Amino acid sequence: MAADPVKEPASARIAVIGAGLMGHGIAQVFALAGHEVTITDSFVQTLDTAKSRIAANLRDLGEDERVVENVRACADLAEAVGDADYVVEAVLEDLPLKQKLFAEIERHVHPDTILASNTSVIPITAIMQGLTRRECAVGTHWWNPPFLVPLVEVIETQWTSAETIAWTMKLHEGAGKTPAHVKKDVPGFIGNRLQHALWREAISLVEQGICDAETVDSVVKASFGRRLPVLGPLENADLVGTDLTLAIHNIVLPAIDSRPAPSPYLQKLVADKKLGFKSGEGFRKWSPDEQAALRATVMKHLKAMRDG
Ligand SMILES: NC(=O)c1ccc[n+]([C@@H]2O[C@H](COP(=O)([O-])OP(=O)(O)OC[C@H]3O[C@@H](n4cnc5c(N)ncnc54)[C@H](O)[C@@H]3O)[C@@H](O)[C@H]2O)c1
Repeated sequence: MAADPVKEPASARIAVIGAGLMGHGIAQVFALAGHEVTITDSFVQTLDTAKSRIAANLRDLGEDERVVENVRACADLAEAVGDADYVVEAVLEDLPLKQKLFAEIERHVHPDTILASNTSVIPITAIMQGLTRRECAVGTHWWNPPFLVPLVEVIETQWTSAETIAWTMKLHEGAGKTPAHVKKDVPGFIGNRLQHALWREAISLVEQGICDAETVDSVVKASFGRRLPVLGPLENADLVGTDLTLAIHNIVLPAIDSRPAPSPYLQKLVADKKLGFKSGEGFRKWSPDEQAALRATVMKHLKAMRDG
């Protein structure tokens, strides 16, 4: 076990645990920023294909494919994390699995190694509560695909030290990401709270027969969605005036869905096996061609935003 202190973020050695959808993309981002990266996965085939998937992404993005040589695939967890200054976990969304994994990781890392979980919704506090050095533990919530969506939410728990937060923010900034400090470990962090507040109302509009699902999506895309990349909601509120925002809220908020549970409309879709793309129908019907076209549109848009 190495005993040297944690390095400057720019030269940190990174270990990524889990080489699935998120893990291989996170490894790619750090490799592209010049970090030495180890990656591991308990499923041999996923580990074996991690580097070729990263190389294919780099090719597709017009980046130097040789960057993949910064990534070393390790079948052994202890070897993957032993020299790391920073370990980020992206295994399945399962609390006992993550708790057990971090307990094992902590046994193999040096004392100052920073430990991060990329969980979507599990409280970081619950994942990290059993650790001995909880001051070195954070949440880092990336968005898919990690190499095209800039945000990484850096989540502080009651135990996380200010140094750990500052170091982790600097690490992600240096890797070209847009880190956001989440000062309290709340469900949904920031991004998913905002996103799902919108989705709740979107579902409610359809449920109440005010419009159909396609109309909800067109309204968003043809209106405030156009401004969102350059105008956040609170910038927008300041732009129109807090007094006008208050006047609007006095009328609109009592009418907006505020139920504290998933909509019965959504529950019925799931009960009827209308699961969206995976079953061909959710809020709308989706042929395989329509699904492929929408996925391609999203990727094209994200690439254009990166280049723009
Ligand atoms: N998919 C998304 O859009 C997204 C976005 C943000 C956060 N997340 C979160 O990131 C994490 C990973 O999600 P994903 O979509 O990449 O899942 P995934 O299923 O694609 O990958 C998870 C990988 O973890 C591996 N794994 C399972 N147990 C392991 C262990 N003990 N040691 C090493 N590897 C192990 C699996 O073999 C698999 O390859 C989850 O916590 C998820 O909630 C996902």
